[in-house]
Amino acid sequence: MKVLVVGSGGREHALAWKLLQSERVQEVFCIPGNGGTATLPRCRNLALSSTDFEGIGRFALVNNIGLVVVGPEAPLAAGITDYLQSQGLTVFGPTQAGAQIEASKAWAKALMQEAKIPTAAAQVFTTAEPAIAYVKTTGAPIVIKADGLAAGKGVTVAATIEEAIEAIEAAFGGQFGAAGQQIVIEECLNGQEVSVLAITDGITIRPLLPAQDHKRIGEGDTGPNTGGMGAYAPAPIISPALMERIQQEILEPTLAALRKRGIDYRGVLYAGLMITPEGNPKVIEFNCRFGDPETQAVLPLLETPLDAVLLACAQQKLEQLPPLSWNSGAAVCVVVAAQGYPGSYRKGDVIGGISQAETAGATVFHAGTKLKQQQVVSDGGRVLGVTAVGPSIREALTQVYAAIECLQLEGMYYRRDIAHRAVNYTDNPQLNPTQR
Ligand code: AMP
Ligand code: GLY
Repeated sequence: MKVLVVGSGGREHALAWKLLQSERVQEVFCIPGNGGTATLPRCRNLALSSTDFEGIGRFALVNNIGLVVVGPEAPLAAGITDYLQSQGLTVFGPTQAGAQIEASKAWAKALMQEAKIPTAAAQVFTTAEPAIAYVKTTGAPIVIKADGLAAGKGVTVAATIEEAIEAIEAAFGGQFGAAGQQIVIEECLNGQEVSVLAITDGITIRPLLPAQDHKRIGEGDTGPNTGGMGAYAPAPIISPALMERIQQEILEPTLAALRKRGIDYRGVLYAGLMITPEGNPKVIEFNCRFGDPETQAVLPLLETPLDAVLLACAQQKLEQLPPLSWNSGAAVCVVVAAQGYPGSYRKGDVIGGISQAETAGATVFHAGTKLKQQQVVSDGGRVLGVTAVGPSIREALTQVYAAIECLQLEGMYYRRDIAHRAVNYTDNPQLNPTQR
């Protein structure tokens, strides 16, 4: 089978890499891909845009593509799946209606409230004045969210009323364009965040291994938010009993609520969860796609061929797929960022030592790279995701940091404390999970 992957980040490199491990996958095409997918054997980048649905459809039909896998949320929210399905193609990724679960926080919140899914209490506003009056009654901390897609920048966790008012004014003042003309104001939740990515064919839903992301740029989870500085899996805070609750209280009822709205959702339902100090899972947000960089930590542990998993979802045959098989160890992905990220950053620097890092036992997923005159150069803020699998988190960490030592990139930055919660968890079993 030939597979087409839409997207250009570390997530898409990991998807292509994992798909190519399957005997049945002959070739993978990436639209537009990056320097990693350009150099992966049996993988080719195509000079097409992820918004060129007709071009993508034509290529897929002419080249007999058996499965299209859509990585990012933007094309899903713009209806890529609807278009490609109308051309008779098999697609992993929800339709435009399903993608609203990520593309409109107000829509997602209404769905959760209707289905009684545990989440922060919230109110929706379309003008600034009542929103400001509202936060004056609730007090701080309080969370202000732009309704639409804002490239991960639409959320303010306001510690004071002044900060909340500033965020409200910024949203209605046009900071996020149309995405901020409606806002959701919600209760601030406490606890530990976990990403549960579940795969679904619209009828059956199954979680992948739980993962934890590190959104802040600085060690100890400090400083500005980023696209994600690293991830690890499995997250020990999610016991099998807690995963069962997540399945029963969150995943199943969300899928049922989607179905009730006539949505045939085939793809990833990514539940961003807060595990409260009482040990209860609550939804912070849903995404309609694989997480980045969670995917780079989760997929290396998957032993079931990925094409079989994605095809089962796209063809609505997930129930027939045997239980997913996983490596019993752990994986860690550490993101190597360009100097200056998440502010303005350097680009175009040659990256050395990638093959040495791989010889040291890691897999180097490219995120912001491109091939220039046969050399891999940096081309984004998050440049690489260096991943290692080991029998335990500690062993995976040792390998990953040893591999990073082999890399050469002018001014590169990475966090040295990825997976610190998991390490702390193993070291301090007496503590309440949210204290670790
Ligand atoms: P989102 O863009 O919805 O993922 O939100 C970005 C980040 O804001 C999340 O990863 C959380 O750290 C934080 N956040 C969002 N909603 C809440 C909430 N209700 N309570 C506490 N933190 C939140
Ligand atoms: N890792 C966060 C996200 O994919 O949205």
